[in-house]
Amino acid sequence: MKHLIGMKALSREQIEALLDRAEAWANRPGEQSDALAGRFVANLFFEPSTRTRFSFEVAEKRLGMHVLNVAAEHSSTTKGETLYDTLRTLQAMGVEAAVVRIRENGLLEELADRVGLHLVNAGDGTNEHPTQCLLDLLTMRRHFGRIAGLKVAIIGDLRHSRVLGSHLHALPKLGAELILSGPPNMLRREEELPAGVRTVPLDDAIAAADVVMMLRVQLERHADALFDSPAAYHKAYGLTLERYKRMKPHAVIMHPGPFNRGVEIDTDLVEADRSLIFTQKANGVPVRMAVLENLLTGGEQSWASSLQTANC
Ligand code: CP
Repeated sequence: MKHLIGMKALSREQIEALLDRAEAWANRPGEQSDALAGRFVANLFFEPSTRTRFSFEVAEKRLGMHVLNVAAEHSSTTKGETLYDTLRTLQAMGVEAAVVRIRENGLLEELADRVGLHLVNAGDGTNEHPTQCLLDLLTMRRHFGRIAGLKVAIIGDLRHSRVLGSHLHALPKLGAELILSGPPNMLRREEELPAGVRTVPLDDAIAAADVVMMLRVQLERHADALFDSPAAYHKAYGLTLERYKRMKPHAVIMHPGPFNRGVEIDTDLVEADRSLIFTQKANGVPVRMAVLENLLTGGEQSWASSLQTANC
């Protein structure tokens, strides 16, 4: 891998190798490594972020990297500089990797062959969010011991979700069954869905799933009002206490965050016994360590030799 632009481009074997490596880091929480000591990475976030931005920074620092945080509103992009010229500028200074969140779908894919540094997609528009997808997969695998055979229901604002954009590629590759549900004006078009991915009524999705993943209503991407009120949305499409009781006894709740309490999920369910939401946040760090290590050291072959030095 030179870049991590999307789950679409990864094979099942590449995904599993990243999860294996992330698992190794997850088993050593807080460990400080010198695996990428002295190497420069830049974090460029042109859209707001809390989880992704800070877990990348923690991951980078745990790997010993020098971290440059580029505040988009203070960068020369506000003077009209393109992302390409920004990346080439950083590359000229010796920065080896750039973690980028942007509003434009597919721009990173266009730039991938034109820049010499490693690109990591930290979320591009409504297209993909591959490291969120990987941390979701790690969370499922650590909880259930497997991904193949799981029924995963992703529910809510499907049309605007880049997290769903990545899961549409990853979950079927790993042998999970993906079912979708949401308001009719927030669904994905049938032609966007891979074979085997079904859209079903909400109560069917809740009753069938091993994993109930609720998505945030992405108001910032709605050109027009798509629902009457937060309360009306919650009643019709949210994970209410009543719907929670109808989940399978072993089923878990997930949510990529940030969440709107009382809209797509009842506030009491965010930290319910069967909620893995904060586990997801914890798993963001080892996943992002594995991704950066893969890109900057050449992947699995080098991990074997770094086992001793990184003691992991
Ligand atoms: N899940 C996620 O991408 O959260 P942030 O927008 O806070 O990074």
